Amino acid sequence: MSSVQLLRVSENRQIARDTYFLELAGDTSDLRRPGQFVNVAVPGFYLRRPLSVCSWKPGQLTLMYKVLGGGTDALTRISIGTELSVLSGLGNGFSLPSGVRRPLIVGGGIGVAPMLALSEFLIEEGTAPRVILGFGSANEVALVEEIEALGISVTVATVDGSKGVQGLVTDAMAQLRGDLASSLSDPEEAVTHELITDQQDFSGELSLGGYDGEASTDSASQDNSTPWDFVYACGPTPMLRAVFACAQVPGQYSMEERMGCGFGACMGCTLPTAGGLKRICKEGPVFGSEVLVW
Ligand SMILES: Cc1cc2nc3c(=O)[nH]c(=O)nc-3n(C[C@H](O)[C@H](O)[C@H](O)COP(=O)(O)OP(=O)(O)OC[C@H]3O[C@@H](n4cnc5c(N)ncnc54)[C@H](O)[C@@H]3O)c2cc1C
Ligand code: FES
Repeated sequence: MSSVQLLRVSENRQIARDTYFLELAGDTSDLRRPGQFVNVAVPGFYLRRPLSVCSWKPGQLTLMYKVLGGGTDALTRISIGTELSVLSGLGNGFSLPSGVRRPLIVGGGIGVAPMLALSEFLIEEGTAPRVILGFGSANEVALVEEIEALGISVTVATVDGSKGVQGLVTDAMAQLRGDLASSLSDPEEAVTHELITDQQDFSGELSLGGYDGEASTDSASQDNSTPWDFVYACGPTPMLRAVFACAQVPGQYSMEERMGCGFGACMGCTLPTAGGLKRICKEGPVFGSEVLVW
């Protein structure tokens, strides 16, 4: 269920390079799952801006946004006390398929935003998630302390090596798996490496499939060749493709596309999938790996 809410800005604070926390007070009862998003009306802009739910509790919604263009730049100047019109409770969100015991969460760039709520959810459900967050550089690193405060150790990867593991999230995955062969030595991965740092490529250009919310993990949970039996990922499309190739187990991937309405009416975010045409805003943004067409 979704509805338009008037939410009051209680905090709008820079937390990393071009990256802000936006805290809003008001009705959050439409939110049910991590990985859902809201569509925020930015004063002066016709189209709403889709932003993932970073975390929420009754009466309080936290968003995390990165300045990309005019709309997100204008958001930085919104002052405390301002009321914003927010279309809440959009998208399907992440779920925990039965049998998953060792989930791995992988976030890249501003794609880390929904991973705080996902971490909270997976802990509440009795699993012990591992978390890898990837950024271009140390000054872009965000959300690590908040996730570590949940008692989870977070591996940070930065492309320039200024913090944590040097390289891509897939390098951190390889390290976690005990595989010391760096994927950066692969020329194809080096291309991906550049794309990950390009915020423009966070718009998603590949074909998608619909996600029915309950991917089978029977084979995955019996696979002991990796420290994880399921992967959750959100980030630039080239990163998602690389994570999927590296994961070797099923997963749920949060996809992104430029959006008009955000609730399934305009068909602007429709993409072909293994299960036919799907709208990212309505049937997604989270899709099971079994329906994604990489
Ligand atoms: C499901 C979903 C969740 C998202 N979650 C976050 C988040 O948590 N934090 C965050 O910083 N960003 C997130 N984004 C991306 C964010 O919506 C865009 O960065 C933002 O809309 C850009 O607006 P702008 O006015 O600054 O840029 P402009 O380029 O001026 O935007 C112009 C238009 O294109 C749309 N647009 C531009 N880039 C994107 C994009 N990459 N994806 C979708 N629409 C786009 C805008 O909504 C607007 O209608 C998400 C996108 C989607 C689809
Ligand atoms: S944005 Fe309108 S249908 Fe998805």
